[in-house]
Amino acid sequence: MSTRHFLTLLDLTPEELQGLIERAVELKRMRNAGEIYEPLKNRVMAMIFEKASTRTRVSFEAGMAQFGGHAMFLSPRDTQLGRGEPIEDSARVISSMVDVVMIRTFSHETIETFAKHSRVPVINALTDEYHPCQLLADMQTYFEFRGSIKGKTVTWVGDGNNMCHSYVNAARQWDFKLNIACPTDFAPDQALVDANSDRVTIFESPEAAVKDSDLVVTDVWASMGQEDETKERLREFRGYQVSPDLMDLAHPDALFMHCLPAHRGEEVSEDMMEDPRCVAFPEAENRLHAQKALLEFLLTH
Ligand code: CP
Ligand code: NVA
Repeated sequence: MSTRHFLTLLDLTPEELQGLIERAVELKRMRNAGEIYEPLKNRVMAMIFEKASTRTRVSFEAGMAQFGGHAMFLSPRDTQLGRGEPIEDSARVISSMVDVVMIRTFSHETIETFAKHSRVPVINALTDEYHPCQLLADMQTYFEFRGSIKGKTVTWVGDGNNMCHSYVNAARQWDFKLNIACPTDFAPDQALVDANSDRVTIFESPEAAVKDSDLVVTDVWASMGQEDETKERLREFRGYQVSPDLMDLAHPDALFMHCLPAHRGEEVSEDMMEDPRCVAFPEAENRLHAQKALLEFLLTH
């Protein structure tokens, strides 16, 4: 079988994605019960980080160790990746020595080029355009707290960024409605929205968008690589903070998610992070379980 990559949620079928979620729930149960399960003994993952990370690094590294394998952290600062060695050459070399490669980088094209020249599966651990691993954890979390998300309404509040784009793909793959509330100049990619216009609606007003929603999600206003725009963004996004008052307009059973790190007082209020509707911390833990299900799928099926 040809090598499967996970660059966006569209690389797996809806059935495969839901299978991963259910497997993640089982792997979580097994870990909590203290069961040793090492399907990746002697397997090695290279983790290339061109941007900072807490959750992604810890979850992939811990996940590989728990599976009996090993994870290797590579940064551009101390590899030839940072000194201009072509992506194509790096992909051929690294993939000849390891079993799977995880990459966090800027341009989505970089990861596509890497995957094209890699002989082992490549996992997108965040690009400027997409963050599919986070969506596995988010979908697992919704499933655990509320059951199937099919037919539900999800509202994205804030920047039309990499997370927002992955929510558009998730809406398609898990079959839910997605409202996006964003300032006009910070809307998600128009072509992606147009391709999903049957389920995605853009709003300017967060209050109108969250009405009757089952899940409300936000993320930082300035993503990694946009630090220079922070001041302007703080101004432009005023009015897009998720707070308990905004959540009160959603469905009474609605959950709140944030991929973290959170900037309290900016995209989310201090009290929202402590609100019982906030599931951001179980969501963060699920990065571990969902990515273990992904690794098992890519390396043992
Ligand atoms: N949510 C997320 O990807 O977190 P890190 O940047 O800490 O990996
Ligand atoms: N949109 C954020 C997500 C961080 C996990 C960023 O790209 O920095």
